[in-house]
Amino acid sequence: MSQLKEAGFEYYHIKERIQYAGMEKDLVQLQEAFDYLPSDEYAPHLHRFRRYARALVMPGTHDVKWLPETRIDGQAYYEYFQGSFNPEYMGEYRRFPSLDKRSMNNKLLEEIIKFDFKETFWMREDALMPFHAGVHFVKLQVEKEGDVAVSSPNTLHQDGEPFTFAHLIRRKNISGAVNAISIPKHRGKMPEDIPEEDITSSFYLTEPLESYSVYDPLVTHFVGDVKKGPEAGPGERSAILIDFQPTVIADPDQIRSMRGQTESMIYV
Ligand SMILES: [Fe+2]
Repeated sequence: MSQLKEAGFEYYHIKERIQYAGMEKDLVQLQEAFDYLPSDEYAPHLHRFRRYARALVMPGTHDVKWLPETRIDGQAYYEYFQGSFNPEYMGEYRRFPSLDKRSMNNKLLEEIIKFDFKETFWMREDALMPFHAGVHFVKLQVEKEGDVAVSSPNTLHQDGEPFTFAHLIRRKNISGAVNAISIPKHRGKMPEDIPEEDITSSFYLTEPLESYSVYDPLVTHFVGDVKKGPEAGPGERSAILIDFQPTVIADPDQIRSMRGQTESMIYV
């Protein structure tokens, strides 16, 4: 059983899991895409920039197919719905500018989506249909002394999607962005307000492609504030977040209660 299945959390480095000729060049191309992220129109004051796209992943072959985007005034968007899990955006649809086509055709991104998907586990009923992958490019950028960039939601939380994978793309000239993992009962609290023994793990992602994953029903997770570092020029923390969920849920209540019992779940 993987650590993700057993503990609901795993830290890893993509460079130890994926290797191919040209990978460095593909990473540079993904890093460049983060230079052109538009401001998050739902939270511009939080110094957050983002793009998003949705894909299907086939069980068995793990082929990745991007879903069609929505076009508004000539711009490409993907709709985003997080249900009731993010208290800051309860039950609302949000819409984010689409990932750029170069990133969507980037081999490293595709390899990461496939690798992550292979780490996920499901109930047999889930695996009859393709899976949904939500791919977020999120940059926190702080321009000047005193600016604070904040992740959403800004507490220990669960995302609602069964799995989320986070991959650092670039961290420069910042302080903060501590990651913390805890247990579900501390949802909504700050890590400093809970007993230290209930912090499962606490760490910083510093190198490109350092990563962690969570199996949402078993844990809560947190990313701390980002402040500008001592060097001249802006500070930045850029990450790719990938979440997976089934495309069909037969009986949501039954499935929700079964998801805590990972022994019977399968890799697809
Ligand atoms: Fe999250």
